[in-house]
Amino acid sequence: MTSANFSSRPISKSGLSFVNEQKPVVNPPLWLLAELTYRCPLQCPYCSNPLDFASQDKELTTTQWIKVFKQARAMGSVQLGFSGGEPLMRKDLAELIAAAHDLGFYTNLITSGIGLTEKKLQTFADAGLDHIQISFQASDETLNAALAGSEKAFRQKLAMAKAVKAHGYPMVLNFVLHRHNIDQIDRIIELCLQLEADDVELATCQFYGWAQLNREGLLPTRDQIERAEQVVKRYRESMAKDGNLTNLLFVTPDYYEERPKGCMGGWGAIFISVTPEGTALPCHSARQLPVKFPSVLEHDLDDIWHHSFGFNRYRGFDWMPEPCRSCDEKEKDYGGCRCQAFMLTGSADNADPVCAKSSHHDKILAAREAANRTRTQIHELQFRNRVNSQLIFKSIP
Ligand code: FES
Repeated sequence: MTSANFSSRPISKSGLSFVNEQKPVVNPPLWLLAELTYRCPLQCPYCSNPLDFASQDKELTTTQWIKVFKQARAMGSVQLGFSGGEPLMRKDLAELIAAAHDLGFYTNLITSGIGLTEKKLQTFADAGLDHIQISFQASDETLNAALAGSEKAFRQKLAMAKAVKAHGYPMVLNFVLHRHNIDQIDRIIELCLQLEADDVELATCQFYGWAQLNREGLLPTRDQIERAEQVVKRYRESMAKDGNLTNLLFVTPDYYEERPKGCMGGWGAIFISVTPEGTALPCHSARQLPVKFPSVLEHDLDDIWHHSFGFNRYRGFDWMPEPCRSCDEKEKDYGGCRCQAFMLTGSADNADPVCAKSSHHDKILAAREAANRTRTQIHELQFRNRVNSQLIFKSIP
């Protein structure tokens, strides 16, 4: 996945309704994320893909993916995101888009723009693609190259962002913000306005996958966040005066919050992700949890959604220990993020340590402190590439 933030943002509308406090009525997944491949030409050190992606080379075939799309659509899913890795690495992408479009999905391509061409944009438009999100690493070529690991990437992204608009697509430009680029937020916004983005996602890094590995070298300081918020506020005010309708979304990192996000709109509530080799997950990071998740090669998606152990493991409120169980905010935040609880406390059953009520909140406070002290330079980060992934995989006992 090109952005560490794509599905880890709070999603306000939960698909769970409750007939009483303990028994959730399970509504269909509205959003299917197809992680088509872990292959990617870039090496962003904040990628949310699993650290051991290089050990997982298998990918579903075109026919297998289309079967998954049909099953999701039959359940009532309406939106399909094509992600990765870099989804453009799949030669059958146009065929998959066409199949999803014919089934009635609203389709969204989440891409770095590397590998995109004018011709492909036309082919995808003919196939019925509805929407494109292009991710950038920075507002200038040098920093972009240092983060992406490619000298040519920035110019290619600029060219493709212009081409996306010329083809009439609605366009989101996504910037993952961290301590190395957040101070150029004014230049980032200027670039987005110049490129005529419809939506701008200024999404501060969320710490999963490679971002978690590099957390100390990526987490901005509180001062940096506050300065960035002020800049966004000023731009929003002046854009409103000018009648500029570009939507500026600024996502703060939950490391500076006192309450956790309602991750995924609740576990198994509205979102389903399928990995390149066909594992179905209630969130894109969940494969790291010590929970067995089913494969779409062995089970129907409807069966997975309603009956699998993994999708029911943290649904509703029954699983919650204290302090979540008796918390009057639990219907808002569902105890926070299960992956974050697991990464920071060793158990996904715990409250997300972002919550000030958690007995593990000191871990968040320590991370904030470390952000004030660290001097980590970009070249010292662990980049997301096959060599590093293989080394990490080999070191896992
Ligand atoms: Fe929050 Fe997995 S990322 S539940």
